[in-house]
Amino acid sequence: MTLARSLIAVLVSAGALLAAVPALAAPVALTPLPVKLTTAEGSFSLSARSRIFVARGDVEARGVATQLADLLRRTRGLNLAVVEGAPRAGEAGIVLARGGPAGEAYTLQSGPSGVTITAARRAGLFYGAMTLWQLATQEAGRGPVTLPAVAIEDAPRFGWRGLMIDSARHLQSVETLRAIIDAMAAHKLNTLHWHLVDDQGWRLEIKKYPKLTEVGAWRVPAGAAGRDARGRPVRYGGYYTQDQVRDLVAYAAARNVTIVPEIEMPGHALAPIVGYPALGVNPNPPAMDRNNWGIFPWLYNLDDSTFSFLNDVLDEVMDLFPSDYIHVGGDEAVKDQWKASPKIQAQMKALGLKDEHEAQSYFIQRVGKHLSARGRRLIGWDEILEGGLAPNATVMSWRGLEGAVAAARQGHDTVLSPWPLMYLDNRQSASPDEPPGRGRVVSLKDVYDFDPAPAEMTVEERKHVIGLQANAWTEHMRTDRRLETMVFPRMVALAERGWSPATTTDWADFNRRMPAEFARLDALGVAYDAVPFEPQTTLSAGADGKVTVALASSLAIGEIRYAVGGSEPTMASSRYQQPLVLAANDKLRARTFVDGRPLGRIRDLSVHPDSLLTRTGHQLKACSDKLTLLLEDDAPTTGDRAVFHIDIMNPCWIWEGADLSKGAVLTARIGQVPFNFQIGAERDRIPLRAPATPEGELEVRLGCEGERIAALPLGKAAREPALSTIAGKIPARDGRHDLCLMFTSKSVDPTFAIDRVTLKPN
Ligand code: ACM
Repeated sequence: MTLARSLIAVLVSAGALLAAVPALAAPVALTPLPVKLTTAEGSFSLSARSRIFVARGDVEARGVATQLADLLRRTRGLNLAVVEGAPRAGEAGIVLARGGPAGEAYTLQSGPSGVTITAARRAGLFYGAMTLWQLATQEAGRGPVTLPAVAIEDAPRFGWRGLMIDSARHLQSVETLRAIIDAMAAHKLNTLHWHLVDDQGWRLEIKKYPKLTEVGAWRVPAGAAGRDARGRPVRYGGYYTQDQVRDLVAYAAARNVTIVPEIEMPGHALAPIVGYPALGVNPNPPAMDRNNWGIFPWLYNLDDSTFSFLNDVLDEVMDLFPSDYIHVGGDEAVKDQWKASPKIQAQMKALGLKDEHEAQSYFIQRVGKHLSARGRRLIGWDEILEGGLAPNATVMSWRGLEGAVAAARQGHDTVLSPWPLMYLDNRQSASPDEPPGRGRVVSLKDVYDFDPAPAEMTVEERKHVIGLQANAWTEHMRTDRRLETMVFPRMVALAERGWSPATTTDWADFNRRMPAEFARLDALGVAYDAVPFEPQTTLSAGADGKVTVALASSLAIGEIRYAVGGSEPTMASSRYQQPLVLAANDKLRARTFVDGRPLGRIRDLSVHPDSLLTRTGHQLKACSDKLTLLLEDDAPTTGDRAVFHIDIMNPCWIWEGADLSKGAVLTARIGQVPFNFQIGAERDRIPLRAPATPEGELEVRLGCEGERIAALPLGKAAREPALSTIAGKIPARDGRHDLCLMFTSKSVDPTFAIDRVTLKPN
């Protein structure tokens, strides 16, 4: 090709690429970064007149071409025709051609004479089409677009580039799952591990066992959310019908995404056992407990009839999901019920199983045999190693990488999904604007920096690493939008780690591509978390009643521009360099820019000296960090709910440096949450302070072990499920003090929490 000969070779590093090709209208911003990318002079004009060509009779290519046309119509408003045959002489068209690399690999060349995507397999053609789509969506906007001239050779680093979605804790709509699959496909992610079963709900219609969904798919939410306006129990949940699943599996397959279903066993099984108590060890499973989070004791028993049930379920599962792999869970099966049951112990003895680990191994291996009889492979969480691995089993390593190392040493394949880096329920920054989740921060950079070539493994052992995966556990993702926000953009970082070569580790260059990524996610209609890019404010007292405002984004990417007085910050606005001194009622607007492009939203701040008197629960210092959550209030049941920053093992907050020289009035907005956490004996370690009044008090101490200087009775606030306010006087003390705030209570249920505190000097 003439184009190929005229190409200017540029290293894959897009940083270098930027410098070398100043003539390009828009610098190339593809994610994941291709293996080899060279740029050339010129460009290709993509417009509604452009046509997509496939060879006559190439049904697969035609399908991919139609998908590309649909996507361009939806996201850019361009209506391209798909044509069988070749472009007319002189026509610059888009050609999907066969040949070249196999598997998911492809080549793409674009220039004034057109775009050619070449791949041997459908998957490769599809990914070439996704790269073309990315070239067309580097900037927000609709209508014609100029694509840079490039030559790309591309192939994945790993075969398993996965996202796990937990639909058991909270069910998502099929539309949301489709949108997430679209966004996965656009970033060359190819595996959706679908967590369909857990203690809280069974989400898959099984024809032979209707009670799995009639009973097991519905629960009554904990706390205030569990009662309607007339005090009746709320039925919460739902499930996916087999027709919906078939459609979704096909939708995903068309986008090169394999859905791997997970049917949890032998633990995390309360929901099915509530539907069919004979599956369990003990009769009378506690149906109400399905609104709890944590690790439950409810296990399947070892009866033949239970294995027949599981085989029947898996038969229907395998009929629905053509994936090579079927995930059987295996994690966190505390064996207390098996240990305590004489019947289970007798069965174990008869089977020659020396302990409960061997019993779990027997359980998983027996199920594994059924899967292999139908040509499928078993995958499970790393606990399936305990007591002996099933032949051919693949280990999903989540408790660090030890499981992966052990599996590889035994010659088994493994998928890396270690806590905490690959756990998307961890929040993305320490900003109070983050959605509910776990208190630990796993930033976009943390995910980007994850190295899927563990140093603990030899080169040979690393060959067993078939890929990596991040997991969206949804205990604290009640809405679909929150799920999307926790998943993106971190999955974009994982996509690069999973697809691009090991040498692609340039965080600064990844940042340069983020504005394009946000434009794409906007075009796809998928929510994402921009908070870590946005300027956050820290206020402190300045002279003469003024306020000093420090601005910083938690990812510290790009530059912050700001305007005082209400106008929109642009690249022409002042660049933030040092804290600003602002007067009362000044309006500050600030935004982050990367390479001249805005990243994230404009942040507004109205300055008021009184702002310094109030701190939210997120701004107060936590007394400890044992099990810290950003925990959503369970009330009110409709409308916005508070999100508390709380260590549920020690609910306690510190106001640092309070000036008590004149005494103060403390006003606290407080809420309460049900204690719906199954944490075993840990619950007894939560400190309880005896109340002096029937409803308890908010105690104020000088340091957490120090003198109690005030106790504000909760009174009727203790019975208010939503937020309410209490106030009281704090006596004068010399100097500044760290005030420790905690509640007295007879029980951990409910747990009281601070939403915000105002401390006004007398
Ligand atoms: C897990 O996080 N329990 C796999």
